[in-house]
Parts: sequence; structure tokens; C-alpha cells
Amino acid sequence: MMLGSLLPIIFLIGGIGAKTNFKVNGTFTCDYDAWCFFVTLWEEDTSESWNDVIDRMGTKCVFGRHSYNYQLDGTEYEDGPFGDEFYEIFLTVRHNCTSYGKRELRRETTFESVKTPVVYITWNKQLTGDIGVLVDEFV
Ligand SMILES: *[C@@H]1O[C@H](CO)[C@@H](O)[C@H](O)[C@H]1NC(C)=O
Ligand SMILES: *[C@@H]1O[C@H](CO)[C@@H](O)[C@H](O)[C@H]1NC(C)=O
Repeated sequence: MMLGSLLPIIFLIGGIGAKTNFKVNGTFTCDYDAWCFFVTLWEEDTSESWNDVIDRMGTKCVFGRHSYNYQLDGTEYEDGPFGDEFYEIFLTVRHNCTSYGKRELRRETTFESVKTPVVYITWNKQLTGDIGVLVDEFV
């Protein structure tokens, strides 16, 4: 009884927040025989001017195959009792499965409760077709 009522206070003082593990996978497909991509999992930070990288793969090049199964895995920590209730999560992929140059595609932002211990996201994308914005670099 006594301990039960004290626990929330201890948590507040200790600043121990919840954490959420994000497990992402999916398949990128491309009609070209040689192509490279750089995929990043982001948390959009509206209070800061930058976004947090949760996880990313280095530049991955694929030769002689038209699809690649990727996986990302990362953990975010709740800011504390006064933090946001939701993580704003999105993914980007920069790639050169194009007729010219490199392009970036972005997955729509999803809102995930900070109370969810594990979030599963699957993002499959056909990269062919010169869609997305032109970028200079993979990173
Ligand atoms: C993508 O870049 C790699 C490495 O530079 C190159 O080998 C490949 O031909 C490029 N693919 C396309 C479709 O431009
Ligand atoms: C991707 O993750 C889902 C769970 O969200 C799982 O069912 C599926 O088997 C995974 N696919 C691959 C290729 O790992």
C-alpha cells in the first residue's frame, strides 16, 4: 500500500521515462540492374529545429537483383512527465534507381504512443519511376 503510492513519485524524481522500440522492415524494388539506397528512420522533433535519427543503414548497393529486404531497429526514450504523448515517426530513402541523379522518397508521418513498448512498421516501396525530390548525396 505504502510502497504502491510512493512508486509514481520515485519515477518522477528519477526521471525514468518509458522507452519504445521501433522495428521496421520492408522491401525496396528497382527495375535497374545496379542501384544504391540509404534508408533512415526518423523521429520528427517539433520543439527542435532538427529531427532525431532513430536508425539508418549505410549506403547499400544492389547488383543484379531487383529487390532488397531491409530492416531497421532503434529505441526512443520518453522525454519525461512533460514530454509529448506521441512520437512522430517517418522514414526516408535516398536512392539512385533513377534515369538521372539521386532522389529522396518520404513515408507519411505516423503517430505512435510513447506508451507502446514495441512498434512494428513495414514500408515497401517501388523506387523506379523518377518520383521524389532530387538530392545531391545519399546522406
Ligand atoms: C547507382 O550508383 C551505383 C554506384 O555508383 C552505380 O554502380 C549504379 O550504376 C547507379 N545506378 C543507377 C541506376 O544510376
Ligand atoms: C517484417 O515484420 C513483420 C512484423 O511487423 C513480420 O511479420 C515479417 O515477417 C517481417 N518481414 C521480414 C522480411 O522480415
